[in-house]
Formats: sequence, C-alpha cells, structure tokens
Amino acid sequence: MAYRLPSPEDKARYVQEKFDQIASKYDLFNDLITQGQHRYWKRVLLRRVGMAPSDRGLDLCCGTGDLALGILPRLSGEGMLVAADFSPKMLQAAQRRLRHHRNGRNAPLTVVLQGDAMRLPFQDQSFEFVTIGYGLRNVSGLEGCLAELLRVLRPGGVLGTLDVGRVRNRWLRPLAEFYLFRIVPRIGKLLQSGQEMFQYLPLSTVDYPDQERLRQIMEQSGFTNVKVREFLFGASVIHLAYKPEAG
Ligand SMILES: C[S@@+](CC[C@H](N)C(=O)[O-])C[C@H]1O[C@@H](n2cnc3c(N)ncnc32)[C@H](O)[C@@H]1O
Repeated sequence: MAYRLPSPEDKARYVQEKFDQIASKYDLFNDLITQGQHRYWKRVLLRRVGMAPSDRGLDLCCGTGDLALGILPRLSGEGMLVAADFSPKMLQAAQRRLRHHRNGRNAPLTVVLQGDAMRLPFQDQSFEFVTIGYGLRNVSGLEGCLAELLRVLRPGGVLGTLDVGRVRNRWLRPLAEFYLFRIVPRIGKLLQSGQEMFQYLPLSTVDYPDQERLRQIMEQSGFTNVKVREFLFGASVIHLAYKPEAG
C-alpha cells in the first residue's frame, strides 16, 4: 500500500513516535542524504545568529543535539542553553553527547528537557536567541509554533531556522525532487528497512511553505527583518527572523 502522511490531528503523536524509532540512525541518515553538508549549514546558521557569550538560548527540536553542541563553545559561564525536544530517544542521544562536552567554571548552564514546541514551558521573553534545525516542518502547527517562539524571545531577539527549501531553477528542480522523493527513502531503507519515517521526511516538504512563503509567514506572525540564505540553489535554507524591539 502507498505511504500516506499522518492526518493533522495525528501528526504530533506520529512524529514523536517515529523519531523515537529512528533516533539511533538519525545522524548517519543526515550525513548520508546531505553528504555531510548539513554540518556546514548548521555552522553558518550559528554564525548568522551571532549570539553573545552571555546570551540565553533555546535549541528547539534539538534532536540528537547537533546545533546545541555547536552553540556551547560560543557561550560563557554567564550564558545558558536549553536543548528541548519531545522525543525521549532523540533527547537521550543529545544528553549523551552534551555530557561529554565542556563543563567547568566557564561553561554555560546547559539544560536538556522534554517539551512540546506548541506549548513551550518557558516564561515570556526568556531567550535572546532560538535555533531550530529541521524542526518547523515537523510541528503540528507552523503559525502556532511561531507565536510561541515570539512569546519566549526577548525584544530584539533572533530566531534562526534551517530546513529544506524549494530549488528555484526549473531545470534543476526535477533533479532535486528525484533525489528527495526517490533516493532519500532508499537511503533510509538501507539503514532501517521497513521504517516509514524515511518516507515521511521527504513527503513532509510538500505542504511546507517554500522559502519566500515562509519569510512572509514569519513576518505575518510578528517577526521583522526576516533574512533568507539559500544553499544548493535553494534546496537548503536558513531563515533569520527578529522579534521587534519593545516600544
Ligand atoms: C529532523 S529532527 C531535527 C534534529 C536536529 N535539530 C537537527 O538539526 O538535526 C526534528 C526533531 O524535531 C522534534 N519535534 C518535532 N515536533 C516537535 C514538537 N512539537 N515539540 C518538540 N520537538 C518536536 C522531533 O522529535 C525531532 O527530534
């Protein structure tokens, strides 16, 4: 039977359960499908977010902790990092990796916690920056999640996201789609046969807004000065979006 995406009502439960099931394969899958390039895109994202050492930051949908690991050396003992995700197995991997990282007197306070991006367990204006790698596409309501992010950011704070985008060049787009919809699921199948998450991941891009539309949605949600940076002709995209200064 052909694979069908979960219904909107079922999406959160499905995504949580399936990420739990692929947690041990996730990093290798990411390396294989991007030929390691996601590591470079993540470094660029963190550089563009441009955090200060004393900032308090949230890495939401942290998964196995790639971005959180990149953030830690950029913060000092006055800073703080929260890495949050709703999949216990992805979080366990993040916890393991972060434990081996810096500790000592000048290391930031680091908290790994289970939380839902649609109902963040933080007070208003808690963070100077929020990062999300490949997460917005997976939440059950894009606008609701952006509203939560705006709430927990301080005025002037920045949201930095990395996700799949739409290739603009009309000659290259069919090639990119062939790779995403035909090759990527096969790579997943090699790693974990019978695991439908590797079909979900490419198909979840179909209803996800392209980079220009996402920029508009961010602005309509109350963010300002939204900037877009594309890689691979738009196949991979960073958005930076700022919460307006108070007053
Ligand atoms: C594709 S992984 C991204 C992992 C990591 N950020 C990276 O860049 O490689 C997406 C993550 O988002 C998490 N996620 C999806 N919806 C969520 C929600 N509503 N609340 C918290 N985490 C969520 C999943 O559990 C999963 O770990």
